[in-house]
Amino acid sequence: MKTLITARGITKHFGATKALDGVDLDINAGEVHVLLGENGAGKSTLVKVLAGIHGQDAGTIEGHASLAVIHQELALVPELSVAENLFLNRLPRRFGFVDRAEMRRRAPELLQRVGLDVDPHAKVKDLGIAQQQMIEIARALDKNAGVLILDEPTAVLTETETDRLLQIMAQLRQNGVGLVFITHHLDEIQRIADRITILRDGRSVGVLGPRATTQHMIELMVGRPIDEQYPRAQQRPGQPLLSIEGLTRRGAFEDITIEVHAGEVVGIAGLVGAGRTEVARAAFGVDGYDHGTVKVDGKPLRRNDVQAAIKAGLGLVPEDRKGQGLVLTATVGQNLELVTLGDRDQKRLHDIAGKLRIKGRVEQPVKELSGGNQQKVVIGKWLLADPKVLILDEPTRGVDVGAKVEIYELINRMTAQGRAVLLVSSDLPEVIGMSDRVVVMAHGRVAGELPGGATQDQVMALAVQEISA
Ligand SMILES: Nc1ncnc2c1ncn2[C@@H]1O[C@H](COP(=O)(O)OP(=O)(O)O)[C@@H](O)[C@H]1O
Ligand SMILES: [Mg+2]
Repeated sequence: MKTLITARGITKHFGATKALDGVDLDINAGEVHVLLGENGAGKSTLVKVLAGIHGQDAGTIEGHASLAVIHQELALVPELSVAENLFLNRLPRRFGFVDRAEMRRRAPELLQRVGLDVDPHAKVKDLGIAQQQMIEIARALDKNAGVLILDEPTAVLTETETDRLLQIMAQLRQNGVGLVFITHHLDEIQRIADRITILRDGRSVGVLGPRATTQHMIELMVGRPIDEQYPRAQQRPGQPLLSIEGLTRRGAFEDITIEVHAGEVVGIAGLVGAGRTEVARAAFGVDGYDHGTVKVDGKPLRRNDVQAAIKAGLGLVPEDRKGQGLVLTATVGQNLELVTLGDRDQKRLHDIAGKLRIKGRVEQPVKELSGGNQQKVVIGKWLLADPKVLILDEPTRGVDVGAKVEIYELINRMTAQGRAVLLVSSDLPEVIGMSDRVVVMAHGRVAGELPGGATQDQVMALAVQEISA
């Protein structure tokens, strides 16, 4: 097999952080090489060193293959059209002018290759995040590079889009392209990987073959045995701490009634668009509603009043953490203290940061952290505030397996202390595994409720049902 790129002993520091520590990596023609590791393990840094964006402090990179990279942070220009973005920096030219006819001709062809049905004239800012990702992929494909590196491309893709991408990757592999693929989804790894390099704390701790077990991958990643993926420790439920009664907002959700007791985790499952996030936001007071009541510990909340909700003991970890949960330019420590304001309990702050295994110093700006570590900061912020009821909306999206288990343990700790948790999650095994009861929503209504330990089929049967008006 032909080796396209050989990296040896790659070491990279960012100030006091050793992001990479003597990493070796081979990229072979006709192979999908997966990079696996917890958030902050050094995967993106390795990609950026290979791409020449960061210079390494030590180590060598050999090989002549041309490289195309799809970075974790999208690199499109929102104000430009889809076609212009596809040919960014390399617009087809004729007699020195941008050849718009050529661009118009080739754009649909490229979009079709990734199965994207959008108008090439549409502005990128008007597209969804998954569509933007597919445009980046189309653009990278057009470079016909010998090596294609994809840094967590599937984190924002739907199942169908992921299938399509894996097909494209398999096709490229067959054509002799060397692929490097970063993902946290172990099922994707089992479907496509030829080789798996596992990074932990900036070091390569193992290279596995295509038939590696998930157990083996996880244990290498986190550096300790994991006995249970969903370690829910059930409590005897106490008094109701969160009562959502008949909550209705026309056009969004209708007659939602959910009660969560002290010591309980209640899950909300449902398809995208079922209204789960809308209910969570309305209950917390971010958005308004038309009828119904929300009570915390028996006390009704004023609608559309987040401050009152927080004061009453309610917390929300939002789905869109960058937009709503964090001040990116502030440090980890400052973010952790956002809710508790002024309560400068340094010991607890470090304690929480340690428990969540946040990779990054308390003094570091949050924007320098990887996505999963940013999520841990949002959760840590609410744990420090110690609310009676915490609503978690997709708390582990983009979070690595090790950190997921830490987050589950923290949920268990909250409920063991008599708090209540409402868990909104699209991850079916998670919402089933970590909830004591699961409320299933469909089309803005409660379609039914299932006990913990229900099957995925039972949840899906309720989630897809048509509700007669
Ligand atoms: N530009 C940067 N400045 C400072 N620290 C960084 C920067 N990029 C990454 N790091 C740090 O390097 C480590 C590895 O990060 P990264 O490569 O993004 O991890 P991964 O992609 O595996 O989640 C982390 O501790 C992260 O905080
Ligand atoms: Mg990364």
